[in-house]
Amino acid sequence: MAEQVNGVVAGAKGARVSVETITIPDPGPGEAVVRVQACGVCHTDLHYREGGIGDDFPFLLGHEAAGVVESVGDGVTDVAPGDFVVLNWRAVCGNCRACLRGRPWYCFATHNAQQKMTLADGTVLSPALGIGAFTEKTLVAAGQCTKVDPRIKPEVAGLLGCGVMAGLGAALNTGGVSRGDSVAVIGCGGVGDGAVLGASLAGARKIIAVDIDDRKLAWARDFGATDVINSREADPVEGIRDLTEGNGADVVIEAIGRPETYQQAFYARDLAGTVVLVGVPTPDMRLDLPLLDVFGRGGSLKSSWYGDCLPSRDFPMLVDLHLQGRLPLEKFVSETIALDQVEGAFAKMERGEVLRSVVLL
Ligand SMILES: NC(=O)c1ccc[n+]([C@@H]2O[C@H](COP(=O)([O-])OP(=O)(O)OC[C@H]3O[C@@H](n4cnc5c(N)ncnc54)[C@H](O)[C@@H]3O)[C@@H](O)[C@H]2O)c1
Ligand SMILES: [Zn+2]
Repeated sequence: MAEQVNGVVAGAKGARVSVETITIPDPGPGEAVVRVQACGVCHTDLHYREGGIGDDFPFLLGHEAAGVVESVGDGVTDVAPGDFVVLNWRAVCGNCRACLRGRPWYCFATHNAQQKMTLADGTVLSPALGIGAFTEKTLVAAGQCTKVDPRIKPEVAGLLGCGVMAGLGAALNTGGVSRGDSVAVIGCGGVGDGAVLGASLAGARKIIAVDIDDRKLAWARDFGATDVINSREADPVEGIRDLTEGNGADVVIEAIGRPETYQQAFYARDLAGTVVLVGVPTPDMRLDLPLLDVFGRGGSLKSSWYGDCLPSRDFPMLVDLHLQGRLPLEKFVSETIALDQVEGAFAKMERGEVLRSVVLL
């Protein structure tokens, strides 16, 4: 039987979000209904509200979530009612070109749920990133549910569903950071600090955090940065070179998504080093680099989509490391809030006061 629950909806471009009654249908074949326990407020939710990710209003916001599977549709065998899961926004399809080549973290054919959740008047909602989890219950494709050890707190586990995973994976998967490397991270929000933590987990010897906000730099130190540079006060390229015997870092991770900070990353890396772009640029942005420098400096220039993660491989592993006390994911949770406080959390995010506000349900 379809159910009515409360959910946070962005009704129109730029308008304040509001809590609305939404209808959740029974799960169809291959689908699951999840009782959401926690959902982090990510920059991407704000992008949706501002109309930056399409015009398909109204959006059901929220996508960094953990909860308990309540019911499943026909043919679902990987998860069952009662399972504690982290929701992922890139369910691997198993059939596309990338999957068939054995590179499922590049799966092109995201296998998300159909748009079936509605407002009380029947208007179809567009769930953010195919999830929509600022709600008591949500309907997803069963493949979007990744089972993890239920002993982790939901408000911590949910963060693996988006930004923190993107940062951790930018260092561990895309950047291939390993023991003894020097790493610089430009932009230390939730994603950048995920990259700092990933570099630390991988055994990097030097981790240089760059931001324009001293508060963010202090948090980055707490996640394992060995050195910090406020790029409002000092040239980050020179600073990173000075801290690496004049060479530049082996891996530089850009976690903002701007041409000027990408350029800093490009010049702050060692010869034949790696640049990882995990920040997401906007369509108007352009990059102007001397092609000779692209050639002459060698190495690799990479982008990181969702940290090149494979949810079934990475989420349970990271949860285990957390439960063993080796991955302090709880430090990303700046505050827990109620469903009707998402708008306020957006404002705090814009003022740089939080790494993550997490809605507890
Ligand atoms: N690739 C992916 O799969 C993926 C996933 C999630 C988020 N993202 C993207 O990652 C980026 C960061 O997300 P977030 O949640 O950490 O955002 P955030 O707003 O919390 O963090 C951005 C940080 O960059 C700093 N900053 C801004 N301008 C700067 C500059 N010129 N120089 C140095 N520092 C500067 C800010 O002070 C802030 O600390 C966004 O573009 C987001 O869309 C990418
Ligand atoms: Zn996100």
